[in-house]
Order: sequence, then C-alpha cells, then structure tokens
Amino acid sequence: MGNFLAGKVIAVTGAGRGIGRAVALACAAEGAKVVVNDYGVSIEGGEPTSEIAASVVKEIEAADGEAVAVADDVSTMEGGQRIIDTALTRYGRIDGVVCVAGILRERMLFNMSEEEWDPVIATHLKGTFTVFRAASAVMRKQGSGTLIGFTSGNHQGSVAQANYSSAKGGIISLVRSAALGLNKYGVTANCVAPVARTRMSANVPMELKEIGEPEDVAALVVYLLSERAREEKITGQVYTVAGPKIAVWAQPRELRSAYADGAWTPEKIADFLPGTVGTDPMPMLAQLEAMAAAAAAKERPNA
Ligand SMILES: NC(=O)c1ccc[n+]([C@@H]2O[C@H](COP(=O)([O-])OP(=O)(O)OC[C@H]3O[C@@H](n4cnc5c(N)ncnc54)[C@H](O)[C@@H]3O)[C@@H](O)[C@H]2O)c1
Repeated sequence: MGNFLAGKVIAVTGAGRGIGRAVALACAAEGAKVVVNDYGVSIEGGEPTSEIAASVVKEIEAADGEAVAVADDVSTMEGGQRIIDTALTRYGRIDGVVCVAGILRERMLFNMSEEEWDPVIATHLKGTFTVFRAASAVMRKQGSGTLIGFTSGNHQGSVAQANYSSAKGGIISLVRSAALGLNKYGVTANCVAPVARTRMSANVPMELKEIGEPEDVAALVVYLLSERAREEKITGQVYTVAGPKIAVWAQPRELRSAYADGAWTPEKIADFLPGTVGTDPMPMLAQLEAMAAAAAAKERPNA
C-alpha cells in the first residue's frame, strides 16, 4: 500500500466498472477510505443493480482497504447527498469527490429524441452537480477539499453524440466555476479527459490512436487528489490522460478582436470580419474532412 492519500476520505461515482473502479481501487491502495458509488446500469443507463458497487467494496476489503457502497443514481439530488452523507456518517469527513459515472445514447442530432438527450445530460452533468453541490457545502466549512469531474476530448464536438458532448462541455464549465467559487475556501477543482480501454470506449466507432488502461487514469486522479497537487495549487485545469500521454488543455480565451468606429452594422461586419477577426479552424472538422477525402480517394478507380 502506498500513502499518497493516507487519512483521506474519497467518494467515487461510477466506481463499479471501468475507470471509476480503477480510481476507487487506487485510492484505497494509497490509503484512502472510499465511498464506492455505482448505480450498476447498462451502457445506455438501464437495468440498475446494487451488486456492481458491492463487488468493488469486497475487492477493496480483500486487499485490506476500507470502503462502503452506495448504489444510488447520481442524477438525483438525494443520490448525490447520500454519497456525501455516507462519507460523513461512516468516516467523519470528505476530502475528495471524483465524478466518473456516465452513460451513452448515440444518435445523429436530427434523429435524437428527448429520451436520448435528457438522461445523458442528467447522468453526466447533473450527476456531477449533485455530488459537487453536497461535497462543496462540507468542504467549504472544512476549508479544504478536491473536486474532480470527468470530461472527454469529445467536448470539442461530436458527429453522433451531441448529448454526450454537450454534457462533457458543461462539466468543464462546472469545474471551472467550482475552481473560481471555492478557491478562497481552499477547495480545488479539476477535470480529467481519459482515453482508456473499457466497455464504453469499445463502443466508439472510430479507431482511437492514443489509448491506455483505466489504471493510467487512476494514477492521475490519485495525484490530483493528493497534497502534492494541492501544494502546486492546481485548480481549474483539464488534463487528458491516454496511456503514456498526459496533456493539459488551454483555457478558453479571445483569439482576435476588432473595434467598430461608431456603431456596428451588418454591412460593416460583412466587410470587416472575414479579413480581420476571421475564424479559428476546428481541428475535428479538418480531421473529418481529411477522413472523407481519404475514403473518396480509396473508392476512385486507379488511373
Ligand atoms: N473510456 C474512455 O476512453 C472514456 C473517454 C472519454 C471519457 N470517458 C468518461 O469516463 C467516465 C468513465 O467511463 P468508463 O469508460 O469507465 O465507462 P463504464 O461504462 O465502464 O463505467 C461507467 C459506470 O458508471 C455507472 N453509472 C452510470 N450511470 C450512473 C448513475 N446515474 N449513477 C451512478 N453510477 C452510474 C455505470 O453503472 C458504470 O459502472 C465516463 O464519464 C466517460 O464519459 C471515458
């Protein structure tokens, strides 16, 4: 056992499988007491079972760690509150929360139903809010704590997962808001964008060039939860971890600006904007266009 998180109490949502499970096991192995939350659902969010969370608690206990299971749905306020209340009643404090729980309902935007949109936003975005909300109220009084949200490279946009991409973009803004609002209380907030082999990544239609294991992601999360990261005042950041690679994402900022001489009119903007303010090319759109061009070239008969 390591001692990176000795004495800390950490709650992990979606901790029954994949990345969340690896995070929960790593936190326990580094000395933390762990609240293992998982609703135990299918990849689309159906057929809940409490066995999934309970089995990870058994794994932690078998390795001489301490853990407690909460099989609630994070998309409810009661679920988020119960995770934090369980930490407090069982272990007396909450030092870190890691919101990993997620589902997928893939569909092109023009075909997407409300039943495909709402639960994805509810699980990812609201499910991060419910836990951050309950945890931050305690951490504010403690004067310390760490919040970790899970986003995806997909926050840049997605062809057939507008629901998931929107939720993941929202989580980044939620994390930055938490970093700003809780800074004076000694609470940090960061986001992780993983790429790791799980049942969820097995569902991605395109080949992932850079991918690793859930344990790679867990190592980064343990670091972000530790005093080592808190001493460096790491907050408001988004990190990708994909096997051997860790990358930091840029903060959003204005790229170029222009000022009107007098009031703007559509005519003035039409003359001015393309050549001055211009655009910022979308890397993912360029990638899509390159893929389409390569596919078209393959289809063309040899000259
Ligand atoms: N695997 C990747 O490469 C990858 C890439 C980008 C982002 N992510 C994100 O990382 C996180 C973990 O993904 P994973 O690949 O380990 O997925 P996974 O499907 O293996 O695990 C997700 C877990 O969340 C649980 N869950 C779902 N809805 C819940 C709810 N309402 N309340 C509580 N628990 C719930 C599920 O039961 C499941 O055990 C997700 O947020 C995902 O969007 C993963």
